[in-house]
Amino acid sequence: MSKKVCLTGIKATGMPHLGNYVGAIKPAIDMANSGLYDSYYFIADYHSLVSIHDPKLMRSFSYEVAAAWLAMGLDPSRVTLYKQSDIPEILELHWITSCFTIKGLMNRAHAYKAQVQDNEVLERDADHGVNIGLYTYPILMASDIMILNADVVPVGADQLQHIEIARDIATAFNNTYGNKLKLPKAIVREGNKLLSGLDGRKMSKSYGNHIPLFSSDKDLKKLINRITTDSSGPTEPKNPAESLIFDFYSEFATPEQTEALRARYLRGIGWGEAKMELLSVLNHLLKEPREMYAELMVNTTKIDRILEEGAAKVRPQAQALLKDLKYSIGVK
Ligand code: TRP
Repeated sequence: MSKKVCLTGIKATGMPHLGNYVGAIKPAIDMANSGLYDSYYFIADYHSLVSIHDPKLMRSFSYEVAAAWLAMGLDPSRVTLYKQSDIPEILELHWITSCFTIKGLMNRAHAYKAQVQDNEVLERDADHGVNIGLYTYPILMASDIMILNADVVPVGADQLQHIEIARDIATAFNNTYGNKLKLPKAIVREGNKLLSGLDGRKMSKSYGNHIPLFSSDKDLKKLINRITTDSSGPTEPKNPAESLIFDFYSEFATPEQTEALRARYLRGIGWGEAKMELLSVLNHLLKEPREMYAELMVNTTKIDRILEEGAAKVRPQAQALLKDLKYSIGVK
C-alpha cells in the first residue's frame, strides 16, 4: 500500500524565530524523517501576497524560509519542497473549489473576522483593508491541500478552522460529482506548546520579543540577557517550573542536561549562570545550521534548484488530478 500523503504550507514571512522552530519546523521535519509519509512541504508565497506587496520583501522572505527549513534539517530527498506560485494548477483548482464554497463559510473564517472586528473597534468601515485574497484565503488553502489529495496536514491549532473549511468544500464537491476529493485530516503538531518570548508573552515578531533562529553568537547573548528574571540572589534556590530560561533550555537541551540544570536550580543558581548555560546549548544546536543558512542565502541558486525539482515532481500529479476533475464537471 502506498504511503499516506502529508502536506503542509509555510507562509513566507522571513527568517523564523526559535518559537517557530519549536512549534512548527522541528515537528514537521521529524514527521518527514519518520518515513511514514509521502511528504510535500511548500512555501505559500501566494498566501503571503495577501499582505506583502513589496517584491523585494516577497523574494527575500521566500528564500529566508526555504533556507531556514533546509538549514534546520529538511532533507529534499525525503520531502518534496516547492513553491506554491510554481504550481499554476493550484489556482485553477482554486476557481473550481470557489464555486463550491458557501459565502457564509468565508464570513466566519478567523482571519477575515479578526480584521472586521479590528475595524469595528476603530470605528472604520467593516471591510476596511480587506482584499478578496484575505477573504478567500481558506479556499486557496483548501486548493493547496486537494491538488495533491493530501491525507494529513500538520498545522498549528490556529489553522484547524481552515482544515475544517477544506473538508466542507471537498464534501460539497463530492456530493455533486461523487467521491473525487479526499477529506484532509489535520494533525495538530505535538510539542505545540508555545514558546514564550523574552518578556514572557507569546514569542512573536510583532511583539519584538523573539529570538531570530540564526542570530549571531553575539546577538544571541544580548537577547538572552534580556530575558526577564526576578530579583532573587545568585545562591538562592529557584523554581524551574517558573523560569523562562529553564523553559527554553529544556526545549533545546538533552533530557540529561535538563535534569542537571534542574538540580542546580533547586540547589541555587545565579540567573547569569543559567543564561550562560542556555546560550551554550543554543550555540551548540545552531552552529552548523547558522553556517548553512548563510551559505544558502549567498547562493540562492541552490534553493532555486531544489524548488524547481520539487515543482517538476508536483506538477504532473496536479495536472492529472485537474484533468479528472475537469472531466467530472464537464468542461472536458
Ligand atoms: N495558512 C497556513 C499558515 O498560516 C499556511 C498554509 C497555506 C497551509 N496553505 C496551506 C498550511 C495548506 C497547511 C496546508 O500557517
